[in-house]
Amino acid sequence: MGRTFYFTTPIYYVNAEPHIGHLYTTVLADTLKRYHQMMGDDVYFLTGTDEHGEKIAQVAAKKGVSTRALVDEVSGVFEETWKKIGINNDDFIRTTQPRHKEYVQQVLTAVKERGDIYFDEYTGLYCVGCERYLTPTELEEGLCPDHKTKPQEVKEANYFFRMGKYQAALLEHIEKNPGWIRPERFRNEVLSLLRLPLEDLCISRPKTRLQWGIDLPFDERFVTYVWFDALLNYPSALKRTTDGRDVFEKYWPECNHLIAKDIVKTHAIYWPTMCMAAGLPLPKHLDVHGYWLSGESKMSKSLGNVVRPLAFEKQFGIENLRYFFFREMKFGSDSSFTYELFVERYNADLANSLGNLLSRVASIVRKSQGGKLPQRPQEDEAIRAIAAQAKTVAANYGGHFEERRFHAAVDDIRALLSAGDKYINDQEPWRLVKDPSRGRELSAVLYTGLEVVRLAVLLLSPIMPRTCRTLLDYLGETRPLDGTVPFNELCAWGGLATGFEIGEVPRAFPRIDEAKLATVLAAAAPSPERATAPPPALERKPSKPEITIDDFSKVDLRVATIAEATFVQGADKLLRLMVDLGEGRLRQVFAGIRSAYPQPESLVGQQVVVVANLKPRQMKFGTSEAMVLAGGGGTSRLCAVTFAEPLEPGDHVS
Ligand code: MSP
Repeated sequence: MGRTFYFTTPIYYVNAEPHIGHLYTTVLADTLKRYHQMMGDDVYFLTGTDEHGEKIAQVAAKKGVSTRALVDEVSGVFEETWKKIGINNDDFIRTTQPRHKEYVQQVLTAVKERGDIYFDEYTGLYCVGCERYLTPTELEEGLCPDHKTKPQEVKEANYFFRMGKYQAALLEHIEKNPGWIRPERFRNEVLSLLRLPLEDLCISRPKTRLQWGIDLPFDERFVTYVWFDALLNYPSALKRTTDGRDVFEKYWPECNHLIAKDIVKTHAIYWPTMCMAAGLPLPKHLDVHGYWLSGESKMSKSLGNVVRPLAFEKQFGIENLRYFFFREMKFGSDSSFTYELFVERYNADLANSLGNLLSRVASIVRKSQGGKLPQRPQEDEAIRAIAAQAKTVAANYGGHFEERRFHAAVDDIRALLSAGDKYINDQEPWRLVKDPSRGRELSAVLYTGLEVVRLAVLLLSPIMPRTCRTLLDYLGETRPLDGTVPFNELCAWGGLATGFEIGEVPRAFPRIDEAKLATVLAAAAPSPERATAPPPALERKPSKPEITIDDFSKVDLRVATIAEATFVQGADKLLRLMVDLGEGRLRQVFAGIRSAYPQPESLVGQQVVVVANLKPRQMKFGTSEAMVLAGGGGTSRLCAVTFAEPLEPGDHVS
């Protein structure tokens, strides 16, 4: 009897359309589902959209559409995208659905009755981008480290959840369950957060400020704070599925959340304490992955460097990207996506290694065996070695998947394919074909070559389901991969369908040439119109108190020429600049503009504005002797202030 699993992705905000960052977590859940099904397990997979909160209401207002229209449209885009590219989710939850709203209200009522919700006045620093209050220690130079925006100081009366009451119980749970948060370094991060005092959580917003949300069942003047609402999607979707079933008892005990590192705090602290107060058993695992970076910077809509799943599907095929995801990302660490790297990996692993092995061997089978797959041969030493390797790869595969070492599983498959390739090169079937007396040797070589391909494709099938199904069918391996045939049987060496007649050799992975890559790159580069399009009309209010001209004249602004620009080890937001202010020496400045300049060398020679009389600041990496002015950040692009004409270093700016 198989095991039971419940995989969830974060429910995505509907303020922007899906990009390949969202795609990754969704593909991860989909791949885990397919892997477990192949192992005979019972899996439920949930994804969906997070539709309340200030951020969404603000975007709708900016676009001049109703919030309802915005959420319906963008949620539809997410759902359609997943459908079009073959994501096999069991349900899709929207937090605006009645089933979810009712559940949230039930939980709020229960937690209030238990005495864990109280009313109080509070002043805090709120980041709309994060949709949460930030603690002063989380700020970098007064700004939200993720959104580069100044949090608003909010003072209001609200309802609070006694999160602090559950701190000790949560700490104990995490200490006693080492695999609860994976990988280890995120567990350590959470443990260190939990060693500081844990404040209670503000869980309401007054309707005078925000109407878009779920009403508090005990006070209609307030809506529920978006995270208290959103996290409850995980159980609410099980309590009532879209087709009206209650599958909570069955799947909840096996809940495994998949998230990226941006939302660890909400999932590892807010969520389990909420579960404790609501009397819900805690989820079983929290798997945390790193970011997909676009080159050096995090992929995000505001940086204009996102890759859209449906566009990619047309360009190079989503399944090839799924392969790249697992081949490239070490679970828990950040990875870089560039089209160039994708094409390099695709050409090497899929076109050259897998595709070539299949087409070389299959075409000789067509030529020499009338297309019929040969009999399983007597095994010589070379075949025994390759069969032993295949057996080890299959034996380690489950452990790699279940410990989230996907890249290691792919490495093993690649090694098996290169052993197959070497075997074919050594045995030279194209020469054996010419010698009728060596027919038996020839068919042994052809069998072995295609058996390696069959096994590699079987193991890749959770990652590239459609492509692999087509290739397996081509090889006469038509057995279902849904657990009805035990995995060990499928993977046993010698399973190739002897006597099956293969058809015309498919061009499974045509090589991607330079010209195709160049076309895609040109289309992906941000177009000048897009880059310079005016932002939607916004009412901008001054955010700081008025100052006099005398106050302003205290600031010594100067032209500085950048002489050097480099990354700072251990600081993913900073660049180290050496700037010339015409003083006969260079000044060192640490500037928080790294996300805008993935290739810092491009800054060398540029002239920027610096605050020259800022008191030098001692930082972890050295002293910062001035400050560079930059515009944007927050929800738009970040860009250093420069000049249209060359000036002298040290010139005044006023
Ligand atoms: N709505 C919240 C989640 C609530 S869950 C109860 C939210 N939404 S989000 O749209 O911002 O999605 C964040 C998630 O999208 C990440 O945790 C990750 O799963 C995925 N990713 C978005 N960008 C990503 C990268 N650049 N790289 C990797 N994953 C990324 O937070």
